[in-house]
Amino acid sequence: MKTNDELFKHVISHAKEYGFVFPSSEIYDGLSAVYDYGQLGAELKNNIKTYWWKAMVQLNENIVGIDSAIFMHPKIWKASGHVDGFNDPMIDNKDSKKRYRADQLIEDKIARYEKDGKTDKAAKLQSDLDAALNEDDLGRLKSIIEEHEIACPISGTKNWTEVRQFNLMFSTQMGAMADGSEEVYLRPETAQGIFVNFLNVQKTGRMKIPFGIAQIGKAFRNEVIARQFIMRMREFEQMEMQFFVRPGTELEWYQKWKETRLKWHLALKPNAAKYRYHDHVKLAHYANAAVDIEYDFPFGFKEVEGIHSRTDFDLSQHQQFSGKKMQYFDPEINQNYIPYVIETSIGLDRMFLTTLCNAYEEEDLSTAEKQDSRSVLHLHPALAPIKAAVFPLTKKDGLPEKARQVMDLLKIDYNIIYEEKDAIGKRYRRQDAIGTPICITVDHQSLTDDTVTIRHRDSMEQERVAITDLERILENIVGWKPLLQSLL
Ligand code: GAP
Repeated sequence: MKTNDELFKHVISHAKEYGFVFPSSEIYDGLSAVYDYGQLGAELKNNIKTYWWKAMVQLNENIVGIDSAIFMHPKIWKASGHVDGFNDPMIDNKDSKKRYRADQLIEDKIARYEKDGKTDKAAKLQSDLDAALNEDDLGRLKSIIEEHEIACPISGTKNWTEVRQFNLMFSTQMGAMADGSEEVYLRPETAQGIFVNFLNVQKTGRMKIPFGIAQIGKAFRNEVIARQFIMRMREFEQMEMQFFVRPGTELEWYQKWKETRLKWHLALKPNAAKYRYHDHVKLAHYANAAVDIEYDFPFGFKEVEGIHSRTDFDLSQHQQFSGKKMQYFDPEINQNYIPYVIETSIGLDRMFLTTLCNAYEEEDLSTAEKQDSRSVLHLHPALAPIKAAVFPLTKKDGLPEKARQVMDLLKIDYNIIYEEKDAIGKRYRRQDAIGTPICITVDHQSLTDDTVTIRHRDSMEQERVAITDLERILENIVGWKPLLQSLL
């Protein structure tokens, strides 16, 4: 039986070995908290994006999608509160010169107390930490670290600096001249690109409230510490949707989106027990309700998606900072108002990790006669990077040519691969490891009666089918329709 730590290590090495995720700049020893998606990772990521986009934009008549720029006017980040408030408390160890998030050092200590059965101590420390964070009391964070004798994991010493706030936004200069250039930020969230385009979209799209604007794109955060693989990255992608509603109706819409978004996750048929809501007790000053959808990763329950009722905070701030009206005229009640907003915000990379953790299995196939096992990704077929693999049984007798004809029939609609190397059993195992739902084998019988065998990844069962039925079979198994229909 593997520990969760071991399981997570296996997921990470599987992701690398099969071309899903590589550390960035690996030949230069990597760049911390930055990752590249390989040939299969890019396909899986695109499929997750497509699933989200279809569910949000295609299935909802009142949601449209945009693609705003990463660079935006610097005042936007002042208005949104990111320049002044998007901070993490950090502390440096003077001996190791390593920087830590003060709150995470304390959380690690709480976890150690819990592990040692000191549950009262852990609970007391947790409530002290919550109080210090709620009051932004950096001095208190430092005293907690001292009182609990928290040492640097590298140097082992308790020689700490004061706790300081560290802004998470990356900045750069726009324009060629050093003195004429302007400091701009790499956006830390995609949401503000939606808010500042609210009226452009509403007017040009003749949208009527309630309506939503969706967007998928890169976001950047200079995370003080980065851990747990693609869980906390410095460059990542978000899939966000802002839903604009009449003031006073926002909590009904919040409830609806809370349920709709969990349904989206569960439609992929994961282990439902691994999902839970985590309601925010302490709300941000602009929110009147907020919840996280959490997934039980090998390192515990963590946020994958947030649903926030953000009131009219963002649009009001942009109205104030830009001097431009952000109001909507509601013909049904004959009134102008600044709409309230429900936000759904999911990290694409976290969804990718959730998908991998859900799918990965080291399956024991041993029988009384022999030991056997396989690594398999039970990905939902619609998300699988490769939908089917086509194998000629042997490399001769016209079987490769026939297999190529089957490929040509299917490859316009689906991502299909052709493999003729190695024994069939070995070829099946390679496809299992990357989550390919169907393997199609062309044999000598195929030459005479135009049939092939298909082998299913999860059940490993095989059946003989007519080549003319393959398109229909694939549509039923790997197409978007069954998955999207389950959301209606
Ligand atoms: N617009 C709201 C917003 O950005 P957030 O909770 O800061 O809210 C939303 O981020 C989602 O983005 C999170 O639920 C998470 O999935 C993802 N996310 C945030 N920071 C991340 C990071 N450093 N690396 C990977 N994903 C991240």
